[in-house]
Amino acid sequence: MEKLRFDGQVAIVTGAGGNPGLGRSHAMLLAERGARVVVNDLGREPLGSDRVPASAEAVAAEIVAAGGEAIADTGSVADEASAHTIVHQALDRWGRIDILVNNAGIGFLAGFDEITSADIHTMIDVHLMGTIWMCRAAWQPMFRQGYGRIVNTTSGGMMGMPGMTIYGAAKFGIFGLTRGLAVEGAAHNIRVNALSPGAATRNGTRHFTIPDPEAKKAFEHNFRPGLVSPAVAWLAHASCDVTGMLLHAGGGKVSLRQVCMTEGIDDPDLSIERVQAGIGTILNPTSLRPALDPRDPSVTGTSAATALLVPKSYEPG
Ligand SMILES: NC(=O)c1ccc[n+]([C@@H]2O[C@H](COP(=O)([O-])OP(=O)(O)OC[C@H]3O[C@@H](n4cnc5c(N)ncnc54)[C@H](O)[C@@H]3O)[C@@H](O)[C@H]2O)c1
Repeated sequence: MEKLRFDGQVAIVTGAGGNPGLGRSHAMLLAERGARVVVNDLGREPLGSDRVPASAEAVAAEIVAAGGEAIADTGSVADEASAHTIVHQALDRWGRIDILVNNAGIGFLAGFDEITSADIHTMIDVHLMGTIWMCRAAWQPMFRQGYGRIVNTTSGGMMGMPGMTIYGAAKFGIFGLTRGLAVEGAAHNIRVNALSPGAATRNGTRHFTIPDPEAKKAFEHNFRPGLVSPAVAWLAHASCDVTGMLLHAGGGKVSLRQVCMTEGIDDPDLSIERVQAGIGTILNPTSLRPALDPRDPSVTGTSAATALLVPKSYEPG
């Protein structure tokens, strides 16, 4: 099999200073295959921890020591101006930006009633707003180039997990962003996909512990970040021709996760009672079909009626 390479391309990987960390692993794989990489990381645990702080500089130095090209950036993706600076690091140094991997994140378990308002804002700011600001900053350069590959990081937590309600909301928001950008980027050769990882990293150990040392060692080996990065790198490659997808990758397994729709009921005189009577049909899993490619209007709920709607021009508020 011919090795897929990224020679001449420029990548940004956010939150790539953790060790072990997914971002570091993505950045190192892209660099090993020829990409020049901006390694971004805030360089500290935003919510406090006594663990070794993340270091963008250390990971960039590792890449350079291995013969690759990398520079470090320590800005926060949660800040719009910093997001622009991160992208401009790539443009100023190498003149282009081909790949954006939005990976930066924070995590902790807290009940919906328990989490503080400040932490809710931080969670949304880092994950959802951080991904939005980074995509906005990279969008125009990619648009002008007529080329771009964006990989956004989601999580199994978006499907509903205890203690992860706000985190999950932010991650599902990232999936919605991914779908919308996939549509907007389609005509400009900008592919935008999402990836839900599973790996033994510093983030995971913040949530869970494995008391048995042997089991912990096996888990760390079987779920090493290096078993997620090939899926990210393929989504970041020129040959990637899918867009708007959500892949799950962990422990060597890669699969598709998508939203689905059932056939449902269709009644021009719909009533509450008709919904009650038809709920079996509405929820019938045998009629499920995946809402795959967002470029296909039939999967995004665009019906004959909505086709009548003519968009009005945007008036900034
Ligand atoms: N490890 C898993 O199994 C798992 C599962 C689901 C989702 N994820 C997601 O994968 C991504 C990477 O997580 P990880 O497991 O490697 O954890 P990690 O904590 O090692 O990596 C996240 C990195 O993001 C950095 N960061 C935090 N806020 C930042 C900001 N505002 N700007 C720039 N950098 C910032 C942190 O310093 C950290 O180094 C996260 O988005 C996380 O939510 C991980």
